[in-house]
Amino acid sequence: MAANGFDKAMAARIVADFEARPELLVQILNAFLEHFGYIPETAIRMLAAELNLSRADVYGVVSYYHDFRTSPPAKHVIKICQAEACQAMGSRELTRHAEQTLGIELHSSNADVTLEPVYCLGNCACSPAVMVDGRTHGRVSEERFDAIVGALAEAGT
Ligand code: FES
Repeated sequence: MAANGFDKAMAARIVADFEARPELLVQILNAFLEHFGYIPETAIRMLAAELNLSRADVYGVVSYYHDFRTSPPAKHVIKICQAEACQAMGSRELTRHAEQTLGIELHSSNADVTLEPVYCLGNCACSPAVMVDGRTHGRVSEERFDAIVGALAEAGT
Protein backbone atom coordinates (compact mmCIF):
# COMPACT_ATOMS: atom_id res chain seq x y z
CA MET A 1 0.00 0.00 0.00
CA ALA A 2 1.52 3.28 -1.05
CA ALA A 3 0.30 6.83 -1.29
CA ASN A 4 -0.07 7.21 -5.05
CA GLY A 5 -1.83 10.55 -5.07
CA PHE A 6 -5.52 10.76 -5.86
CA ASP A 7 -6.35 10.02 -9.49
CA LYS A 8 -9.98 10.86 -10.30
CA ALA A 9 -10.13 8.56 -13.34
CA MET A 10 -8.86 5.61 -11.30
CA ALA A 11 -11.27 6.51 -8.50
CA ALA A 12 -14.15 6.51 -11.01
CA ARG A 13 -13.10 3.06 -12.23
CA ILE A 14 -13.07 1.75 -8.66
CA VAL A 15 -16.55 3.17 -8.02
CA ALA A 16 -17.77 1.58 -11.28
CA ASP A 17 -16.28 -1.79 -10.22
CA PHE A 18 -18.59 -1.61 -7.20
CA GLU A 19 -21.51 -0.47 -9.42
CA ALA A 20 -21.71 2.76 -7.39
CA ARG A 21 -23.69 0.92 -4.73
CA PRO A 22 -23.94 3.03 -1.55
CA GLU A 23 -24.21 -0.08 0.64
CA LEU A 24 -20.67 -0.96 -0.52
CA LEU A 25 -19.20 2.33 0.73
CA VAL A 26 -16.83 0.64 3.20
CA GLN A 27 -15.54 -1.72 0.49
CA ILE A 28 -15.07 1.20 -1.91
CA LEU A 29 -13.19 3.15 0.76
CA ASN A 30 -10.97 0.11 1.37
CA ALA A 31 -10.24 -0.07 -2.35
CA PHE A 32 -9.36 3.65 -2.36
CA LEU A 33 -7.09 3.14 0.64
CA GLU A 34 -5.42 0.17 -1.05
CA HIS A 35 -4.86 2.11 -4.23
CA PHE A 36 -4.18 5.68 -3.09
CA GLY A 37 -2.93 5.10 0.48
CA TYR A 38 -5.42 7.57 1.99
CA ILE A 39 -8.90 9.07 1.57
CA PRO A 40 -8.57 12.74 0.62
CA GLU A 41 -11.35 15.32 0.92
CA THR A 42 -11.75 15.18 -2.88
CA ALA A 43 -12.60 11.49 -2.60
CA ILE A 44 -15.21 12.15 0.07
CA ARG A 45 -16.92 14.75 -2.14
CA MET A 46 -16.72 12.48 -5.16
CA LEU A 47 -18.17 9.47 -3.32
CA ALA A 48 -21.03 11.53 -1.91
CA ALA A 49 -21.97 12.62 -5.43
CA GLU A 50 -21.46 9.23 -7.10
CA LEU A 51 -23.22 7.18 -4.44
CA ASN A 52 -25.98 9.72 -3.85
CA LEU A 53 -25.04 10.15 -0.19
CA SER A 54 -24.45 13.28 1.84
CA ARG A 55 -20.86 14.31 2.52
CA ALA A 56 -21.65 13.91 6.22
CA ASP A 57 -22.64 10.27 5.57
CA VAL A 58 -19.35 9.52 3.82
CA TYR A 59 -17.29 11.52 6.30
CA GLY A 60 -19.02 9.72 9.19
CA VAL A 61 -17.86 6.35 7.86
CA VAL A 62 -14.35 7.62 7.11
CA SER A 63 -13.95 9.04 10.61
CA TYR A 64 -15.43 5.94 12.28
CA TYR A 65 -12.73 3.61 10.98
CA HIS A 66 -9.19 4.43 12.13
CA ASP A 67 -7.71 2.80 9.03
CA PHE A 68 -9.27 5.41 6.74
CA ARG A 69 -6.56 8.03 7.07
CA THR A 70 -7.33 11.33 5.32
CA SER A 71 -3.79 12.45 4.62
CA PRO A 72 -0.97 10.65 2.81
CA PRO A 73 1.08 8.30 4.99
CA ALA A 74 4.82 8.80 5.50
CA LYS A 75 7.34 6.50 3.75
CA HIS A 76 6.90 3.90 6.49
CA VAL A 77 3.75 2.88 8.35
CA ILE A 78 4.12 1.34 11.80
CA LYS A 79 1.00 -0.13 13.40
CA ILE A 80 1.03 -1.23 17.02
CA CYS A 81 -1.64 -3.67 18.12
CA GLN A 82 -3.91 -2.26 20.83
CA ALA A 83 -6.20 -5.27 21.21
CA GLU A 84 -6.58 -7.32 24.38
CA ALA A 85 -3.85 -9.96 24.10
CA CYS A 86 -1.25 -7.39 23.11
CA GLN A 87 -2.38 -5.00 25.84
CA ALA A 88 -1.87 -7.78 28.37
CA MET A 89 1.69 -8.13 27.10
CA GLY A 90 2.55 -4.44 27.27
CA SER A 91 1.44 -2.88 23.99
CA ARG A 92 0.30 0.31 25.77
CA GLU A 93 3.78 0.78 27.23
CA LEU A 94 5.31 -0.08 23.86
CA THR A 95 3.06 2.52 22.24
CA ARG A 96 4.21 5.19 24.70
CA HIS A 97 7.81 4.22 23.97
CA ALA A 98 7.16 4.44 20.21
CA GLU A 99 5.54 7.86 20.60
CA GLN A 100 8.51 9.16 22.58
CA THR A 101 11.08 7.61 20.25
CA LEU A 102 9.42 8.90 17.10
CA GLY A 103 8.28 12.21 18.59
CA ILE A 104 4.71 11.71 17.41
CA GLU A 105 1.42 10.39 18.76
CA LEU A 106 -0.73 7.61 17.35
CA HIS A 107 -2.59 8.72 14.20
CA SER A 108 0.19 11.05 13.15
CA SER A 109 3.41 11.15 11.16
CA ASN A 110 6.92 12.55 11.30
CA ALA A 111 9.04 13.00 8.17
CA ASP A 112 9.53 9.24 7.76
CA VAL A 113 7.00 7.30 9.79
CA THR A 114 3.24 7.17 10.26
CA LEU A 115 2.27 5.63 13.61
CA GLU A 116 -1.14 3.99 13.84
CA PRO A 117 -3.05 1.66 16.15
CA VAL A 118 -4.36 -1.65 14.87
CA TYR A 119 -6.81 -4.00 16.54
CA CYS A 120 -5.46 -7.56 16.33
CA LEU A 121 -3.03 -8.70 13.68
CA GLY A 122 -3.90 -12.36 14.20
CA ASN A 123 -0.56 -12.78 15.95
CA CYS A 124 -1.86 -12.88 19.53
CA ALA A 125 0.37 -15.83 20.53
CA CYS A 126 3.37 -13.57 19.89
CA SER A 127 2.17 -10.42 21.62
CA PRO A 128 2.83 -7.58 21.55
CA ALA A 129 2.57 -7.44 17.80
CA VAL A 130 3.62 -4.66 15.45
CA MET A 131 3.19 -4.31 11.70
CA VAL A 132 5.85 -2.41 9.77
CA ASP A 133 5.11 -1.67 6.12
CA GLY A 134 2.77 -4.64 5.96
CA ARG A 135 5.10 -7.10 7.71
CA THR A 136 4.12 -8.45 11.13
CA HIS A 137 6.64 -8.66 13.97
CA GLY A 138 5.92 -10.56 17.19
CA ARG A 139 7.10 -10.21 20.78
CA VAL A 140 8.27 -6.68 20.13
CA SER A 141 10.11 -5.29 23.14
CA GLU A 142 11.16 -1.64 23.36
CA GLU A 143 14.69 -2.70 22.33
CA ARG A 144 13.36 -4.65 19.37
CA PHE A 145 11.19 -1.71 18.36
CA ASP A 146 14.25 0.55 18.41
CA ALA A 147 16.15 -1.96 16.26
CA ILE A 148 13.30 -2.08 13.73
CA VAL A 149 13.14 1.71 13.51
CA GLY A 150 16.94 1.86 13.28
CA ALA A 151 16.90 -0.60 10.38
CA LEU A 152 14.34 1.55 8.56
CA ALA A 153 16.55 4.60 9.00
CA GLU A 154 19.67 2.69 7.91
CA ALA A 155 17.94 1.37 4.82
CA GLY A 156 17.22 5.00 4.01
CA THR A 157 14.13 4.00 2.08
S1 FES B 1 -4.36 -8.94 20.09
FE1 FES B 1 -2.58 -8.19 19.12
S2 FES B 1 -2.26 -9.59 17.53
FE2 FES B 1 -4.12 -10.25 18.40
